[in-house]
Amino acid sequence: MKLLQVLNGEPVWPPPAWLMRQAGRYLPEYKAVRAQAGDFISLCLNPVLATEVTLQPIRKFGFDGSILFSDILILPMALGQGLRYAEGEGPRLPPLQKATELTLEKAPGIYAPIMQTVANVRAALPRETTLIGFAGSPATVACYMLDGQGGTGFPRTRQLAYENPGFVDDVLEMLTEATITYLQAQLDAGADCLMLFETWAGIFPPAQFRKFVIEPNRRIVEALKAKNPGVKILGFPRLAGLMLGEYVRKTGVDAVGLDTVTDIALARAACPENTVFQGNLDPLLLKLGGSAMEDAVRTLLASVKTRPHIFNLGHGITPDVPEANVARLMEIIREA
Ligand code: CP3
Repeated sequence: MKLLQVLNGEPVWPPPAWLMRQAGRYLPEYKAVRAQAGDFISLCLNPVLATEVTLQPIRKFGFDGSILFSDILILPMALGQGLRYAEGEGPRLPPLQKATELTLEKAPGIYAPIMQTVANVRAALPRETTLIGFAGSPATVACYMLDGQGGTGFPRTRQLAYENPGFVDDVLEMLTEATITYLQAQLDAGADCLMLFETWAGIFPPAQFRKFVIEPNRRIVEALKAKNPGVKILGFPRLAGLMLGEYVRKTGVDAVGLDTVTDIALARAACPENTVFQGNLDPLLLKLGGSAMEDAVRTLLASVKTRPHIFNLGHGITPDVPEANVARLMEIIREA
């Protein structure tokens, strides 16, 4: 498995590649299955259909990594918080008022279908394709739980972090526990490695970044590595900026996803020598295609040659990306 080789620190050329949100609305076959499922949550909880949409981009583009089809907000739903996806608007949750509204006990039963998807996907994937299990990191998941939606910069979460840090701590404590159990279940079901999505790392000032971002991620990595020696974990602390080096050193992640604004040479200087990077093509280029995309891809490839690197975007692929550009991207990488 090329992707696991890279996570083990071996340079592989051309680099293994996959794309965040590689299963999704830019694919007509995804939209067809999504329509069959009725809604997004039903799709995530239907092992037959979730397996199908996980495999669609692998069949079409031959990515080296296959990410489980699910969502970071399935976990709060499993802990008892209401969740719906308003058509074209993204997730909506009733903003959490007390940590005691959540219960850990019932969660494994609620997310059991997802473990069936992991097992199905692993059984169906080519041997050389790495199955990536994932969860949202606690602070990012808490942002949606406390604000009830994205898109507004999470004002309630940021205010609570100052005014009621005990509440935020209680929520993060539960999420950290629940995430360890949830990711362990994915490993047990057949995931080959794991990724922690800290999409909103960049909204926290340094003291809160240490407490809410670094510490929960560190505990999750520590617990999973203690139980699963050798397991590889990728972190994605989006927009961490100058906190990136400290995030990598203190959490103990093996690899880190770089967002579009991060210069790889600067990231290399800030992180431990053996850190593996993943990323960080601007998803907009994948929409534009043509020479803008091709030049940027070649420049990125040149900058990671001889290094263990996983080719990816700096954030998720958008629904307006033409499939032909994805096919061309993979061609350029393979010819590198
Ligand atoms: O292909 C994959 O990457 C695997 C599946 C996956 C999804 N979401 C599917 C999805 C993964 C790994 C995620 C992670 C996720 N979900 C994150 C972290 C990464 C990131 O993108 O920043 C976040 C913040 C979420 C929460 C979430 N889910 C939002 C804000 C939205 C709405 C935005 C949108 O694109 O509509 C979702 C919905 C979602 N998650 C879709 C998919 C394919 C679209 C749902 C649909 O079909 O309508």
